[in-house]
Amino acid sequence: MGTIAEYIDENEPRIQEELFTFLRMPSISSQSEHEEDCQQTARWLVDYFRKIGFSAREYPTEGHPVVLAESPRVEGAPTLLIYGHYDVQPVDPVALWESDPFEPQIREGAVYARGASDDKGPLWAHIQAAAFWMQSEQRPAMNVKFFLEGDEETGNEAASVFVYQNTELLRCDYLVLSDSPQFASGQPAITCGLRGMAYYEVKLTGPNRDLHSGMFGGAITNPCNALTRLLASLVDRDGKIQVPGFYDDVLRASTEEMAQLEMLPLEEEHFYAAAGVTGGTGEKDESVLSRIWLRPSFDIHGLSGGYQGEGSKTVLPAWASAKFSFRLVPRQSPGDITKSLRLFLAGQLPPGIQMELQSYAGTPGISVDISQPCMKAAARAVEFGFGRSPLFIREGGSIPIVSAFAEALTPHIMMIGFSQTTDNAHGPNEHLSMADFYRGMKTSARLWRELAALPLEPSTK
Ligand code: BES
Ligand code: MN
Ligand code: MN
Repeated sequence: MGTIAEYIDENEPRIQEELFTFLRMPSISSQSEHEEDCQQTARWLVDYFRKIGFSAREYPTEGHPVVLAESPRVEGAPTLLIYGHYDVQPVDPVALWESDPFEPQIREGAVYARGASDDKGPLWAHIQAAAFWMQSEQRPAMNVKFFLEGDEETGNEAASVFVYQNTELLRCDYLVLSDSPQFASGQPAITCGLRGMAYYEVKLTGPNRDLHSGMFGGAITNPCNALTRLLASLVDRDGKIQVPGFYDDVLRASTEEMAQLEMLPLEEEHFYAAAGVTGGTGEKDESVLSRIWLRPSFDIHGLSGGYQGEGSKTVLPAWASAKFSFRLVPRQSPGDITKSLRLFLAGQLPPGIQMELQSYAGTPGISVDISQPCMKAAARAVEFGFGRSPLFIREGGSIPIVSAFAEALTPHIMMIGFSQTTDNAHGPNEHLSMADFYRGMKTSARLWRELAALPLEPSTK
């Protein structure tokens, strides 16, 4: 049997060409015009798994299909489930891309395309680890299942519902995903916590038509004015959220984790500079990393209403609306927060204004225990792949399905980062360093061996 390094040397052009094929598929899950593209991507993945010797099929869901693939069975060996999402974010603003988002291009050692970093590239590293195992060994070191979804970027819960309804099909001893970044370039990381989310759209309606602000302004409540007041009431200057009871269930990190966090090398000035700003916001007694990883936050994602065209127009608009969300931390319940939010907002509506508050599917924050043996196995695999041991970190982003995994499948969840925070995930010119890609592939291949060698922990599910 050859080593993974030899395998990569011999197969590099093919691995890259196939990654390009995957990246060319415009599987934008939130846009209905790409419905067919999502389905074709799922089908292509199924075919690919069959080609490398896995059994595979797709399952319909309320959203886009999920793909489930399985290695040939290895009796007596534990099972690893590898998760990834094949859907990607929309590409706008498309004018800011230096090359076509769906025509991958290598520039300075990185592949540029929508999905390169989030999440097709890292997922492809795992799939190629499987291809390596299937080609180089008679049989894989352990049982491996891939579970891939196409609704991660929309917040659609279809795949989570599938998990709860198919626990036997998805049964596993360990679960790995690479959908979170490394800590920094040259510093790999395993993520042991994610924030959750509660997302809303609010619409305020006032007069039954747009009015002349000279004839009515000052006496009729302006929905844009009312909306800015209402949104401002949600948060104070330091980012502390004002909804009653909002912090009641917040689970503080252990003093040990806090101490570790304080030791992480983050230059706050560099952090701000990388975003093109000279300073930021957040609770005064919290560090930047704590603000992003351990504390909830509030952000407005879009505001509309009134006149936005050229020049001025003295209108008193009939309506105003906004999309906003809270990032949540472990133990906060999205449902409870929606109830308190609704009451808090309704209690402040000025005369002449009506509110519609729509709540999108929420997801709780999660944390996983880093003292479990599989984390040490994962750290060894990262050391092998990246030549450096990983930091254990949290992340501020959300992966809704992970809470379903923890609840319905296994607590042994390893979130190993292959990408970088500077890859422009969700933005124009998204990219992934090919060096990180191959390090990820080596890490994944090694992880199978490391996990197979562990004494099997009694599964708690
Ligand atoms: N891969 C990200 C999640 C992520 C981002 C993890 C940063 C760690 C750090 C995922 O694809 C994503 O974008 N999630 C959305 C979820 C939302 C649509 C419910 C997010 O976090 O905004
Ligand atoms: Mn992702
Ligand atoms: Mn994403």
